[in-house]
Amino acid sequence: MASAPGICDTQTMRDQVDIHRFAELTPTPALIAGIDDVFFAASNTQSFASDAARAVFRERWLGRYLEHDPQYVYLALSSGGEVAGYLVGSVSDPARTSRFADIGYFQTFRDLTARYPAHLHVNLAGPYRGHGVGGALIERFVADARQAGAPGVHVVTSRGARNVTFYERAGFVEAGATGDGASEVVFLALTI
Ligand SMILES: CC(C)(COP(=O)(O)OP(=O)(O)OC[C@H]1O[C@@H](n2cnc3c(N)ncnc32)[C@H](O)[C@@H]1OP(=O)(O)O)[C@@H](O)C(=O)NCCC(=O)NCCS
Repeated sequence: MASAPGICDTQTMRDQVDIHRFAELTPTPALIAGIDDVFFAASNTQSFASDAARAVFRERWLGRYLEHDPQYVYLALSSGGEVAGYLVGSVSDPARTSRFADIGYFQTFRDLTARYPAHLHVNLAGPYRGHGVGGALIERFVADARQAGAPGVHVVTSRGARNVTFYERAGFVEAGATGDGASEVVFLALTI
């Protein structure tokens, strides 16, 4: 008898994708381009006033992690070597780390970031979503953050975003919020 389609599909997709540490791979231009493709395709911002604005945006949410925290970067690679997704993270309290000073909400949440200093950004290419790959990336980062002695991990995302369910399933709970209406963001926290 055939397996239930959902279970079969999910297992097949997970089997086609392996999680690698970025620091253990050769950062070829093709690999970096693959990460960039996933980043820009998943981004809420799809057009930029200039190439410089695009570069600042990339630096803010991706580039600085690749440069400063490569040990907390994980890539989900397909069997053909395609970048299916990535997680970038840091275990440094971002409210007290100068390279994150340009992100205002970290100061708003500075009491919370002291308790949950590690943070992450995770994105998958469209065809790879909904098969547990994101959860596997989170597990890898949480294990390393715990090993590094971080007491907790957080993510900041938009109120009502579909990904909130994903984080809640991974054990995150809302610990704070700031902003109004469409610009409201929530601080989701996980004790590790
Ligand atoms: C969020 C994301 C990393 C989750 O990874 P995943 O492997 O797809 O997640 P899982 O298979 O473990 O869990 C599925 C859950 O992921 C979330 N998800 C799935 N597709 C999504 C999408 N297109 N956009 C946002 N969240 C999505 C949902 O919460 C989904 O649960 P649901 O189907 O009951 O709504 C991935 O879907 C993604 O990259 N989404 C788009 C970009 C994004 O939202 N990144 C997070 C920014 S804070």
